[in-house]
This record gives sequence, C-alpha cells and structure tokens, in this order.
Amino acid sequence: MEAMFTWSDDLGLGIQEIDEQHKVLVGLLNDLHSAISDHRGSAECRSILDRLAEYTRVHFAVEESLMRILGYPDHENHRQEHEALIGQVVDLQQKLDAGQSAISFELLHFLKAWLTKHILGSDKLYGGYFLSRGIEARWPTQEATVEKKRSWKFWSR
Ligand SMILES: [Fe+2]
Ligand SMILES: [Fe+2]
Repeated sequence: MEAMFTWSDDLGLGIQEIDEQHKVLVGLLNDLHSAISDHRGSAECRSILDRLAEYTRVHFAVEESLMRILGYPDHENHRQEHEALIGQVVDLQQKLDAGQSAISFELLHFLKAWLTKHILGSDKLYGGYFLSRGIEARWPTQEATVEKKRSWKFWSR
C-alpha cells in the first residue's frame, strides 16, 4: 500500500538527530494509517496511537531542552504549540477510553497537517537559529546516529 505520508527533504531541518525523530513520527502515522486501512481493530490502532503520543512527548522534550540550552528567543511560544497538541491528544485518549470517539482517517489527516505545518513553520525557525548558534548538523555523534537508525527500524516496524 502507498504510504499516506511520504517524507520529503523539504521537511528536513538539516540537524540529523531532529530529522531522524521527525521521520519516526511520520513512520508512526503511516503505521496508524495502515492499521486503519487494514481494519486491524481498535486495540491495535490504539496501541499505535499510544506509541505515537509517547514518542511525540519524547521528541517535544528534546526540542524544548535544546531551545532552553541554546537560549532560543521564541522558546515559550513553541512550547505552547507543543502543549496544545499534547492536550488534544490526551483529550482524544480520554474520549477513546470512554467509548465516545474512534480513531479515524480524519484524525490522521489532522495529525499529518499539524505535523507538516509545525515542522515547516515553527521547527524550521528554531532549526535555522540552532545552526546559526553552531549546533552540529550531525549532533550528537556519528556512532549515536547509527544506534538511532537501529531504533528507527524498531519504531517503523
Ligand atoms: Fe516543535
Ligand atoms: Fe519537531
């Protein structure tokens, strides 16, 4: 099946670690799309959604701590965008628990649109700032990136 969300180099910030994390998020959205399309059932869709929510928190925490460390001026607005999305996902998880909602293609399209807009807008802005402050494009290290590729396989399975 064709992937719902194809990674494109336009989405790259040029900071390898962050780009790898964004690819994991894209991969999880594609996993969720396949699970819905294949009618694999609500339990499996829910477990992918929960993994996506968990990885999103980890990713946001990485971005926010880098912004703090590097003194990014727009840190607070960026953090609020993250918080708003997490709030929406938590609401959705609660509605799913209460049987008041279902995981749908509409949800997927919302998440895809949110992620695309956020990366191309807000993330690109800090990306330019980080690179201008001398963060290594290949941070943290070449070896760690190899490790990451292994775990990316795990996440995208
Ligand atoms: Fe972000
Ligand atoms: Fe991001």
